[in-house]
Amino acid sequence: MVSLSQNLPQAISTTPVMQDWPGLIEAYRSWLPVSETTPVVTLKEGATPLIPVSSIAEQIGRGVKVYVKYDGLNPTGSFKDRGMTMAISKAKEANCEGVICASTGNTSAAAAAYAKRAGMRAFVLIPDGYVAQGKLAQALVYGAEVLAIRGNFDRALDIVQEMALKYPVTLVNSVNPYRLQGQKTAAFEIVDALGEAPEWLCIPMGNAGNITAYWMGFQEYKQAGKCQLLPQMMGFQASGSAPLVFNKTVNNPNTIATAIRIGNPVNKEKAIAAKSSSNGAFLDVSDEKILEAYKLLGREEGIFCEPASAASVAGLLKRASEVPSGATVVCVLTGNGLKDPDCAINNNDAIFHADLNPDLTTVAHVMGF
Ligand code: F0G
Repeated sequence: MVSLSQNLPQAISTTPVMQDWPGLIEAYRSWLPVSETTPVVTLKEGATPLIPVSSIAEQIGRGVKVYVKYDGLNPTGSFKDRGMTMAISKAKEANCEGVICASTGNTSAAAAAYAKRAGMRAFVLIPDGYVAQGKLAQALVYGAEVLAIRGNFDRALDIVQEMALKYPVTLVNSVNPYRLQGQKTAAFEIVDALGEAPEWLCIPMGNAGNITAYWMGFQEYKQAGKCQLLPQMMGFQASGSAPLVFNKTVNNPNTIATAIRIGNPVNKEKAIAAKSSSNGAFLDVSDEKILEAYKLLGREEGIFCEPASAASVAGLLKRASEVPSGATVVCVLTGNGLKDPDCAINNNDAIFHADLNPDLTTVAHVMGF
């Protein structure tokens, strides 16, 4: 029998591959608008796992393969880190001293973390009362200056766009082109992992920057001969907040998925172009179906994402009959479930025995022994 201690040196020498991951700017330097003199501000974001999800594949059947790109494992817990490493590096290169963004939460967390790392001030405008607790906690801990407005994300974005025109602060929402440059690397990672682009890419849409960035990434990789296919881009929104699906601005967007509670997406035209040129589709999913997918991922797959991210899986399941047989599908899980603990505690199928006597008999009895 081989003892654990005998195995240890070998185990250690084979595991630290990821220690060498330099962050996505260094990993994909030749694909990004950086030069030798750009100061790289990184938390080693990127290289997130592409995880097969067999319970979802089985629901669809017909030999369809389904993966999730778990971008909630980035350093601040969402895909925004991919864009922020680029936006903040370029802001630092331009000697900017402060950045500003509007946010439903994740952008503010990422902006604050990267700006602080670069020695800059970070101002974040958030819709008061509609930012999940984990995200607010992050902005506070990373030392952002938080401005909570009595208005929604769309109003906050109008304000910060004007602020950046009039005052010496750099806008780091996804209208900043460097954000999308960084985010396109997720498409590269998917192709690098699969050896080919998937047939379908399912993604939640809010301001529609991410779908735009993925499409850019897949196209660039195809042009360079790194893949032969281009995916159909399938964008999903919550029914109460679906301006791209219904092709009109939503004045009072509402959904449990607060991350995508956006009524007037700033990247609308680019997202529509991605949909048309990829022969993709936009679809809405109800909060009920979002929560079903959210719970399914946790319960069946051990994957905890935030509600907005589950919209990609809810959308795939809604469109299941249209997935080509044998196709490979990737659903993007944009944010970590820990971002929104209130949603988790209020929406689960857990067995939770509260207020037990602290003794073995009680515990054993409750466990059914
Ligand atoms: N998923 C999550 C978890 C998000 O935080 C967002 C956007 C999206 C999806 C949609 O991405 O806007 O590129 O279409 N969150 C922004 C924020 C609006 O402020 O954190 P998109």
